[in-house]
Amino acid sequence: MDTNLHFTLPTEVFSGRGCVAKQAQRWMLGRHALIVTGKTSARLSGALDDVCACLDARQIPYVTYEGISANPDETQVYAGAAVARTRGCDFVIAIGGGSVLDAAKSIAWVVASNVPREAFFNGVPATDPVLPIVAIPLTCGTGSEVTQYSIITDHEAKTKKNVSSAAFFPTIALLDAHYLTSLPKDVLCDTALDALSHAIEGIYSLKADCFSRALAETAIGVLMPELVRMAHGTFVNLAQLQYGSMVAGMVIAQTGTGLVHAMGYPLTYYKGMPHGRANGVLLAGYLAFMQATCASLTERILAAAGLSLPEELQALVDTLLDIQGCFREAPTEEELEVFTGDSLRLEVVRRYRTLPSPEEVKDLYRMGF
Ligand SMILES: [Fe+2]
Repeated sequence: MDTNLHFTLPTEVFSGRGCVAKQAQRWMLGRHALIVTGKTSARLSGALDDVCACLDARQIPYVTYEGISANPDETQVYAGAAVARTRGCDFVIAIGGGSVLDAAKSIAWVVASNVPREAFFNGVPATDPVLPIVAIPLTCGTGSEVTQYSIITDHEAKTKKNVSSAAFFPTIALLDAHYLTSLPKDVLCDTALDALSHAIEGIYSLKADCFSRALAETAIGVLMPELVRMAHGTFVNLAQLQYGSMVAGMVIAQTGTGLVHAMGYPLTYYKGMPHGRANGVLLAGYLAFMQATCASLTERILAAAGLSLPEELQALVDTLLDIQGCFREAPTEEELEVFTGDSLRLEVVRRYRTLPSPEEVKDLYRMGF
């Protein structure tokens, strides 16, 4: 076994019921907080109340920006940054799913480094300062609480772009699975499929090493039984899902994502399919495709998942989407042309030993529908 490693994870992680209040002293990272949330889940889950109570008790002033939607664009980032600037915020508390956490990272950068809007998608200079970030995830898919990535929609490029920097790792992540109890079942399922996709793509990456692969196997082994339980309509352990998602996040913090995400972005951008669901429908076909050239890694993935064949994963995903009544409209041949071009243009597809041809990519899309 090649034991050469390159592993980075500067985020301090705490989990467990009540961890926001228990660790409050640790996450007071400045004198004025910007709280970034989506429309409803921060309030519904009780997380926003818990955070505000901790800030009030320590007389730390704060302002809340509740304007982040799914697939945020730079307009939302700059609107949040304007709120932070007006109030002189010097740290950011992100409460929400991946969209919120990702947008909060970019806001923290734009504020601290005065990033001009026209330079936003040009990359983050390594020396650029970023405000300290507290991440409180309210879904179980993104893993953004332990990654350096901020995925922001670029309408000009008609896709999502990865805005990332080592300085984007949250300073502290607080995982309380109790906050997931108000999550709709379809969101729970979509985000869990996203996490599974992170772990599987991470294993195949050229950047993977023995440690990140071991983490990915752990994540798959934790996530799969919960997905099976979801498919059977039985009790799902939210803490396990949250843990598996975070571990998968630790994986992609090392390896990045790959072909499934590159192919999933057009399904989200053009067809409005939720991010995790888009990955989920493509995952089994991708596994079958990779089996031809990476047999032993595929065996490891299947073993960790408790499966014998990629088709079994397809059956599980089909069941999960069927019980939620998720209609999948197959892309037209014209759409496949556009989606294939867009996904193969993304840099992430080059992180693999096997670069698929445009025809193979189209076939992978067809297999998901
Ligand atoms: Fe993802």
